[in-house]
Amino acid sequence: MSSQPEKIRRTTVPEIARRKGGEPIVSLTSYHAHTAAIVDRHADFILVGDSLGMVMHGMESTVGVPLDLMIMHGKAVVRGTKKALIVVDMPFGTYEESPNMAFRNAAKIMKETGCGAVKLEGGKRMAETIRFLVERGIPVMAHIGLTPQSSHVLGGFKTQGRDEDTWADHIEDAHAVTDAGAFSVVLEGMVEPLASKITKEIPIPTIGIGASVDCDGQILVLEDMLGLNPWTPKFVKVYGQLGPMIEESVERYANDVRNRAFPTDEEVYK
Ligand code: KIV
Repeated sequence: MSSQPEKIRRTTVPEIARRKGGEPIVSLTSYHAHTAAIVDRHADFILVGDSLGMVMHGMESTVGVPLDLMIMHGKAVVRGTKKALIVVDMPFGTYEESPNMAFRNAAKIMKETGCGAVKLEGGKRMAETIRFLVERGIPVMAHIGLTPQSSHVLGGFKTQGRDEDTWADHIEDAHAVTDAGAFSVVLEGMVEPLASKITKEIPIPTIGIGASVDCDGQILVLEDMLGLNPWTPKFVKVYGQLGPMIEESVERYANDVRNRAFPTDEEVYK
C-alpha cells in the first residue's frame, strides 16, 4: 500500500484574527529553513522580517533590503515549516508608491514563497493600500509605532508615544489599519500604556514588540532572544546564550585542528 503524504495543516489568517482577547499569540522571526523548523513547533505564526537585512546580512538598517532577498528567505522558511502561518515583510520601496505597485509585489511574494500573508509598515498613510490588497485576496498584517523603514524620518529607532500629545496619532493609525481590513497589527517600540490602550480599543489582535504584555501576542527577533548578538535592546528577553556557545565551539575546533587532535580515528574512513 502506498503511504499517504503527510498532511500539512497550517494556522490560517482567520484563526489568528479570532485570537483577539484570547490565548496570547506566539510569534518569532525566522529567516532560514532549519531554525524555522524549530520555531514551527512552538509558534502560531513566523515572520520573515526585513530585519534579516541587519541580522543576517550585516546591513545598517532595513532600508536597503531588496524584494528578492525577502523572497529567497521566505521560500526557505516555508519549505522548513508545516504548521505556523508564514508572514513575509514587504521591504522598503516595494509598496509605498501606489496600491497597484503594492499589489504586484505582494502577489509576487505570495506566489513565489507560498507564504500566507504579508506585512507592511505604516498606519493612516497605508490604509488605502491595505484595503486594496485585502479586497484582492492578500491578507495584510499592519505595523505601526516604531516603523524601522521610516527610521530616517523618525530620527532613529526611537520609542514612540513618550509624549502623550502624540498618542492620538498612533491611535488613529491603529483604527485606520483595522478599518482598512488588516487582520492583525504589530505595535513596535511604543510606551506600554499606549500599546495597552490600542489593544483594548481595536478589534484585531495586536502583536507587541517593545510594547505591552496586554497585547494579544508577542514577537521577538529569534537571533536576539537566542543571545546571538552581543547587545540587545531593553525590550528583548534573552532566553539562550548561543553567541558564547558558538564562540566556544569554534575555538575548541580551531585548537583541535592546530594540534592535529581532529580528525581522530573515529572521524575517518579506514
Ligand atoms: O522585521 C522584523 O523583524 C519585524 C519585527 C521586529 C516585528 O518587523
